[in-house]
Amino acid sequence: MHANVIPLQATDRPRIEAHLLRLSAADRSLRFAAGVVPDDMVRRYVASIDFGRQVLLGYVSLRGELFGFAHGCPFVHAGRPYLEVAFSVDAAWRGHGLARRLMDAMLGHAAAHGGITVIGRCATRNRAMRRVFEHGGLALQRDEDEFEARRELACAA
Ligand SMILES: CC(C)(COP(=O)(O)OP(=O)(O)OC[C@H]1O[C@@H](n2cnc3c(N)ncnc32)[C@H](O)[C@@H]1OP(=O)(O)O)[C@@H](O)C(=O)NCCC(=O)NCCS
Repeated sequence: MHANVIPLQATDRPRIEAHLLRLSAADRSLRFAAGVVPDDMVRRYVASIDFGRQVLLGYVSLRGELFGFAHGCPFVHAGRPYLEVAFSVDAAWRGHGLARRLMDAMLGHAAAHGGITVIGRCATRNRAMRRVFEHGGLALQRDEDEFEARRELACAA
């Protein structure tokens, strides 16, 4: 299916909020690695996005709806840079490789900076997300009922 991954701006905040609020209770739980995720928590999360520092990528339909979203949060741990990534795709658009392509775009962004480790987490039962991590070449390590995924990207030449 044809859809372009685009970088998202602060003006896309309402679209991101609408997309995340459309996720079912079970999907919110997987996306935010939490039990119950009420609307207020989603709204606070979206309000806290730092568009100047974080990596925001997605797909916007002709109707102006965001139907796939990737969020990369940079942080430093023990002097080493990391990018923690998380993904979501509207239920109606799943199974078309959209998350795989968001992962590719996120890795492309991180590789352009280089010397960074991309990490992510998903529930062990989340087979689709596990496949997306594997597609991106992230190594999976089990941590109780979650997988931690990571891939260190070489320094940019
Ligand atoms: C996880 C999620 C982002 C995947 O989105 P998607 O666009 O459907 O994923 P893709 O189409 O790129 O498929 C990726 C892989 O998962 C597989 N897959 C998709 N749905 C699956 C399912 N229900 N069970 C097993 N595998 C599945 C696909 O076959 C594909 O594998 P392949 O590369 O071997 O063919 C989407 O299901 C989602 O938004 N889930 C709720 C939020 C969430 O769990 N986020 C992850 C936390 S970071």
